[in-house]
Amino acid sequence: LNKEEVEVTFVRANGVRIKTKGNIGDTLLDVVVNNNIDLDGFGACEGTLTCSTCHLIFSKPDFDNLPDKPGDEELDMLDLAYELTDTSRLGCQITLTKELNGLEVRVPATVNDARS
Ligand code: FES
Repeated sequence: LNKEEVEVTFVRANGVRIKTKGNIGDTLLDVVVNNNIDLDGFGACEGTLTCSTCHLIFSKPDFDNLPDKPGDEELDMLDLAYELTDTSRLGCQITLTKELNGLEVRVPATVNDARS
């Protein structure tokens, strides 16, 4: 890890953990794309807030500590996500900060591409 990077772990629905890293300032969608993480259907709209396939589930403490609160557009899109939880966010809307080092997020088993 250099000082511009943080460690992020994606946990698949089957429990498999994918430990990776991302650059500060990147979104969690960028992290998935840049590291070629194979998540089925993830990020279909490329971060334009029209698909909900980048749905990720956070722990309660991490969720509360995220730097930005969800905007109306994100909330509307989250409503369409499968397996929605109280600590769900859209990965394309979460930008990595130093404080998020060690972040662990759960990937839901199913995705809903709201565009179809
Ligand atoms: Fe489509 Fe995030 S990638 S809403």
